[in-house]
Amino acid sequence: MPILVLGIETTCDETAAAVIERAGDGQGRILSNIVRSQIEEHAPFGGVVPEIAARAHVDVLDGIVANAMKDASVTYSQLAGVAAAAGPGLIGGVIVGLTTAKAIAMVHNTPLLAVNHLEAHALTPRLTNALAFPYCLFLASGGHTQIVAVLGVGKYVRLGTTVDDALGEAFDKLAKMLGLPYPGGPQVERAAVQGHATRFGFPRPMMGRPDANFSLSGLKTAVRNEASRMTPLEQKDINDLCAGFQAAVLESIADRLNVGLRLFTEQFGPPTALVAAGGVAANQAIRGALREVAGHARTELVIPPPALCTDNGAMIAWAGAERLALGLTDVLDAPPRARWRLDENIEVPAKLANTRAGF
Ligand code: KG4
Ligand code: ZN
Repeated sequence: MPILVLGIETTCDETAAAVIERAGDGQGRILSNIVRSQIEEHAPFGGVVPEIAARAHVDVLDGIVANAMKDASVTYSQLAGVAAAAGPGLIGGVIVGLTTAKAIAMVHNTPLLAVNHLEAHALTPRLTNALAFPYCLFLASGGHTQIVAVLGVGKYVRLGTTVDDALGEAFDKLAKMLGLPYPGGPQVERAAVQGHATRFGFPRPMMGRPDANFSLSGLKTAVRNEASRMTPLEQKDINDLCAGFQAAVLESIADRLNVGLRLFTEQFGPPTALVAAGGVAANQAIRGALREVAGHARTELVIPPPALCTDNGAMIAWAGAERLALGLTDVLDAPPRARWRLDENIEVPAKLANTRAGF
């Protein structure tokens, strides 16, 4: 029997709600998907301001939920469940979304699904591509940079993560440093296309390391040092700095993913695909690098459409539906969580245990 689930996303700077349908055979369909970005509110600060984000979610969430229900032509009594991202993320925003979902669940006597935001990214290719387990996820956004083995619903093993900044955060910080507007990723990509990547010999972070972790802060410092040495910067300098930065990032991503895919195959056999998600996956040069990595590993590359790669309510609703189909519902006092490891309840193979230390 098909089930309908409402999903709510408020963990960062997008206020989003969606209704999806999951058929008995596991096929998914999006009935509505509304996303309101807060970019304009945060742009003057060059990054997301948690207090502003939480207030903006409060202002608009009820209207967005109502519109998502209306667009889908669905009534609350038809819902099989209501899902909200319960973390990880900015706690003020998480509380807004989760409390709203709890209120709907209580009033309409429907099950609550307190979804892990990272799990929602991880399960999206099953909504868009009906992808079979197990697959390897590369999640790169403003808040997260992870390589995850997705083995089943609720079965995730983190193969690599960043030890400092997230990839998108590094793009945003570089843009801010060079006086480019927020969000920095698309700006840096545009400037990089015009620049010469070989003018500077920036470090390639973590290259050759046996684990699959990322690090961006050393590269960021190297670019900052070069930029302050050359101040005042001309447009050509900015372009070359962006090109040099992006070239270093590309090599680092390829190397880290080669290792991640090797660890994956050693532990779990070959993946059905390499999946990319998160705003950074919009970058054309990074997509090119991912194609090469996937080709090298003889696996398919799956990148959900941009609107489903970045934060949205459909992915939360879908993760909720996948959990609901397995009977994995949550109690009404499920806590909002600023931090929430995707693989905290899974036994990690001994070989990978050293990649988990410290974070
Ligand atoms: O997934 P997302 O929309 O939101 C969250 O972070 O949750 O990702 C936004 C991040 C920002 O840091 C933005 O600068 C980065 O993704 N981004 C890009 C590009 N487009 C967006 N980074 C590099 N190149 C891009 N073209
Ligand atoms: Zn996200």
